[in-house]
Amino acid sequence: LPTPPLPGDLPSVHLTENARQVLIRRYVRRGEDGQPVESVEEMFWRVAYHIAKVEENWGGDVMQSAREFYLLLTSKKFFPNSPTFTGAGTPLGQLAACFVLPISDDMGREPDGIFQTLRDAALIQQTGGGNGFSFSRLRPKGTLVKSSAGQATGPVGFLRVYDHAFGEIAQGGTRRGANMGVLRVDHPDIEDFITCKTDENAITNFNISVGITDAFMRAVENDEEWELRFPDVRSPRYREVKGTLEQLEAAGVPIVTYRRVRARDLFNKIVKQAHHNGEPGVLFLDTANRSNPVPHLYPLEATNPCGEQWLGPYENCCLGSINLNEHCGPNGTVDWETLRQSVITATRFLDDVVEANAYVPAVPQLKEAAHRARRIGLGIMGLADLMYHVGVRYGSEEGQEFAAQVMEFIRFHAMKASIELARQRGPFPAIKGSIYDPENLTWTPPRPLMPYQRDWGRPPLDWDEVVEGIRLYGIRNAAQTTIAPTGTIATVAGCEGYGCEPVFALAYIRHVNDNGKDLQLTYASPRFEEALREAGIPEEKRREIFERVLREGTCQHIPDVPEHIRNVFVVASDITAEEHVRMQATLQAFVDNSISKTINFPEHATEEDVATAYMLAWKLGCKGLTVYVTGSREKVVLETLATA
Ligand code: CDP
Repeated sequence: LPTPPLPGDLPSVHLTENARQVLIRRYVRRGEDGQPVESVEEMFWRVAYHIAKVEENWGGDVMQSAREFYLLLTSKKFFPNSPTFTGAGTPLGQLAACFVLPISDDMGREPDGIFQTLRDAALIQQTGGGNGFSFSRLRPKGTLVKSSAGQATGPVGFLRVYDHAFGEIAQGGTRRGANMGVLRVDHPDIEDFITCKTDENAITNFNISVGITDAFMRAVENDEEWELRFPDVRSPRYREVKGTLEQLEAAGVPIVTYRRVRARDLFNKIVKQAHHNGEPGVLFLDTANRSNPVPHLYPLEATNPCGEQWLGPYENCCLGSINLNEHCGPNGTVDWETLRQSVITATRFLDDVVEANAYVPAVPQLKEAAHRARRIGLGIMGLADLMYHVGVRYGSEEGQEFAAQVMEFIRFHAMKASIELARQRGPFPAIKGSIYDPENLTWTPPRPLMPYQRDWGRPPLDWDEVVEGIRLYGIRNAAQTTIAPTGTIATVAGCEGYGCEPVFALAYIRHVNDNGKDLQLTYASPRFEEALREAGIPEEKRREIFERVLREGTCQHIPDVPEHIRNVFVVASDITAEEHVRMQATLQAFVDNSISKTINFPEHATEEDVATAYMLAWKLGCKGLTVYVTGSREKVVLETLATA
């Protein structure tokens, strides 16, 4: 699609060498000969222009908006997810990173039958989108199949079928296909599901998560029995009603109890497996559904591949992240005013993406679902960088409060921007009956987990303005905030901390594939180096410190590093699991969707430690949890010398 020439007065972009290379490799468009057909700046202009172009629909000034978006992107204050960079203005035009597809217990009749959905998923993968699926509606393995008088394959069998198929289909761009498979904790095949990835080389195209209910967690707490149940597939009602177990039960479909297990045994099985290699993760279904913005449309059953985005059937979400590292004020402050402006422009950008996205025309349900709720997922990256700048320790109580204050600010202004868009463009079409229905508003403003005690100069937020705004105009987007992993975009933006994660290591060896050769480059945190320099540490000593940090990843055990620096410059392994969970929970209070975060455990952590983290996460209102015990997986992306 034609893009007008990049206006000569627009600035160029400053990127680190590594960032520039990743960007050129992944985002820049190429001709048939494989050579780039645009410069880095032209790439940003292509994205800015084609997203702004839809503002024609509402009488907007396209060039004016394109310039505004270009400045936002090239200042690295905000990036959309990778597919928006690769897809904008291209014939494919698919811009979203994540989708959820329904699977009904059916081989060929329904449009969301097992193989129809596999086909839809394959088409989405080719455009660079990841998929999440709940396998919970599939009848248990061995159940009677009436038409063939045979025995059902079961959800785990079909999960393997999907995995094989996706293994053969490359995802669009340079991404490798990511998928999420969910099974409810009361499904009769849950035990097979929990162990289906015991072998690290099995089912490699899927992340798996157990869908946990409150009833299950209470049964674990009280050491009760737990029933594995499924609707009676022989009942004529079973063919007539579609829905979750709860929906079928409410509609009078008889439910069969297959087996009773001790809830704690099942829980321990999950814990043991997660302790062993990080999978399955857990998703808290009831917690997610309590804040489902559109309960009149569907209950939430699954998330996207990395767990941060709950979606209804055929929904997608275009994610985008504010780079907090580019919102540092002078002398260890936060630049709140710039942050406010970035949030407003980014919210409009993402709402434009809902419009600009071509989705996958061969799966028309995708566009329909996207336009009905107009979900956007504005999040953050570089939280850890900002915390280094402000001098707050990630994970500490102070750090939890700081993260909450930042995220509350973002949520507040994203909502205000979405209300303003509703005023100009109209609210999302499915608003009637939703939690944002102006005539029956059931949404209430979010509150911090703990009362605030500290002041980082944040301007006051009056949530009554938001309530009043929704009453008057509704809101443009059924969901506004999500914290994504930002695997690629944070690299391009030059953040040390991905998404809301702490910094992984202050120095490490990076393995780069250089024309088939494994090239090893060393990386050292620029902020840490600067802090040492500012503390007057001589160069010779700094070099010694660096050598040791390269071995250990952390500076916590180096007496030569001044205490005030050690206090602030923590990395993932310095933070206790409980602190990790509390950081996630404190942010979750201000994120209407979910959060991608890994709870890191040291090598010697026990299964009981993992179990404690799950319980705490559930109690604090997290919508899911992913754990990783150091050294438990063979393939680790980043390695310090010590673990290499
Ligand atoms: O940084 P970037 O925009 O490339 O993506 P991310 O924030 O790391 O991942 C966001 C979402 O993209 C994930 O949760 C997945 O749904 C999807 N994704 C995928 O499908 N395949 C990948 N290889 C990476 C991400």
